[in-house]
Amino acid sequence: MCGIVAYLGNQEAYPLIIKGLKRLEYRGYDSTGVSVHQDGQLQIFKKVGKVAELENSLAGKSLKSTIGIGHTRWATHGEPNDINAHPHFSSSKQLSIIHNGIIENYNALKKELISKGYSFVSETDTEVLITFIEDIKTHNNLSLEAAVRQALFTIEGAYAIVIMDQDNPDQLIAARKGSPMVLGIGKEEYFVASDATPIIEYTDEVVYLNDEEIAVINRDGFKITSIENEELTPYIQKVELELDEIEKGGYEHFMLKEIFEQPNSIADSMRGRLDAKNSKITLGGIREYADALTEANRIIIIACGTSWHSGLVAEYLFEEFCRIPVEVEYASEFRYRNPVINKGDVVIAISQSGETADTLAAIELAKSRGAIILGVVNVVGSSISRASHEGAYLHTGPEIGVASTKAFTGQLSVLIMIILSVAVRKKTITDARLKELLTDLACIPDKIRKVLASNDKIEYIASLFKDARNFLYLGRGYNFPVALEGALKLKEISYIHAEGYPAAEMKHGPIALIDEEMPVVVIATRDSSYDKIVSNIQEVKARKGIVIAVVTEGDVLIPKMADYVIEVPKCDEALMPLVSVVPLQLLSYHIAIMRGCNVDQPRNLAKSVTVE
Ligand code: F6R
Repeated sequence: MCGIVAYLGNQEAYPLIIKGLKRLEYRGYDSTGVSVHQDGQLQIFKKVGKVAELENSLAGKSLKSTIGIGHTRWATHGEPNDINAHPHFSSSKQLSIIHNGIIENYNALKKELISKGYSFVSETDTEVLITFIEDIKTHNNLSLEAAVRQALFTIEGAYAIVIMDQDNPDQLIAARKGSPMVLGIGKEEYFVASDATPIIEYTDEVVYLNDEEIAVINRDGFKITSIENEELTPYIQKVELELDEIEKGGYEHFMLKEIFEQPNSIADSMRGRLDAKNSKITLGGIREYADALTEANRIIIIACGTSWHSGLVAEYLFEEFCRIPVEVEYASEFRYRNPVINKGDVVIAISQSGETADTLAAIELAKSRGAIILGVVNVVGSSISRASHEGAYLHTGPEIGVASTKAFTGQLSVLIMIILSVAVRKKTITDARLKELLTDLACIPDKIRKVLASNDKIEYIASLFKDARNFLYLGRGYNFPVALEGALKLKEISYIHAEGYPAAEMKHGPIALIDEEMPVVVIATRDSSYDKIVSNIQEVKARKGIVIAVVTEGDVLIPKMADYVIEVPKCDEALMPLVSVVPLQLLSYHIAIMRGCNVDQPRNLAKSVTVE
């Protein structure tokens, strides 16, 4: 996920682009760059870090150009540094490009281009794309528009791109597939951006480009065509949003936006990796150590907070599908113990930020004792990703709300893919069971969409419990870690005391807390412990507790017993945490909002815990 801005008109492009990029920083902020047409040439200025750092480095420099493109990056290919930052030049520096998305077949294209004599300075898929376009343009003597069109037929993956040509300072070419792009139409000026935020103070007239559409923008007008070169009538819309609203993509808070992003962020985490049709999983980041993982005598998972909860789900899955013993450790405990690490042990470190100090220290300790470290991390190029031998990124985009939501489901989706690929290598799963799971995994985004459609009902339930002083969350099996996660979400943003328990443990103590004032959230979806959890609900009801149950749609038994039910779609029990956590995220969000809490920046917390 990256932010892009482009301008063509009568104003100076550079300050306008910088301002626009600052508004898009929520989309990624590991490096920034702009390209302008100055002194008869395309020029690129870029820098690792936030937009302000590029701006400071260019202070006092006169950049006079009325055409320009800019980019704020969330690294996918290549670590964040000055070279990998966008924009990128084509090989001859005739063209420059900004790109949001992932070109999946870039490796094959790169090899082909290298064999033709091209070389590359960055590790990005984007530099490959622009060089590919240049190659088509020069060898076939085509216009830039025609070359872009031809290139887009060959590439696989997602893109929102804008391209400038040194020989034509009066034209921008933009195209999209799978990544957002909006064209702003001003008075003799045009804007292109990832969303309308950089545009709305100049014009309220926009066209949202659809997938596989190409916009050719000149100083005296623009046209939109399909990738097949059919001219389309642009649908010009009025944007009526306030600035601070759309910085969060129209959502009131980043947390809500991130909860609602989950169908897409999970799809992003699986893109190019999961091929359900052919029962195939490809994890490019775990190759050299794939055998070590498959043959591991023991797996130790280290993480903190929400990431630790996804580690617990992974423990159950590893044991079920791979028959490998797993220990899930709080990084903060592990690092200060004298842990036993044997030859053949593999450590999996899970972290959204990739900067959590305890997890990093635990990795260093395990490494010093000979363990192989695999990272499951969201932030590309972060310390934990660099400290790991290999790993898999989540690719769920920046998570800005302090309470982790889409990173949790991203972690689960990546861990499930890792686990099932180990099971395949170990032959501990049948083809039929694998097919079943992968088919269901591919449907998870749609199932989450269905859960999100219950938002109003969940908000209503939240309104009934906003003044509760305590909450209990219960789950069994794969849903036990979900109970822990639900309780953590509630306490960290609403400051209501909440505890998660394996439902059967209740009778060993917590049951003493239950009375008519105690809301008990029970994750009671249809699975192998269904009958057991039904008994647990009865135990709560017998003590007058109030039950809010998360059930599988169509369940007729639990709705008769529980006070409130939230339905989720039917799903394989091994994948259910991806779905059953979503109503709990929404429940805590709404309760916190109704209590007047700052959900995006809860008191005492920080997004990256870089201190121990
Ligand atoms: C909870 C939350 C924290 C983090 C924990 C680990 O919503 O966000 O509990 O999960 O601080 O952070 P990462 O995953 O960045 O290592």
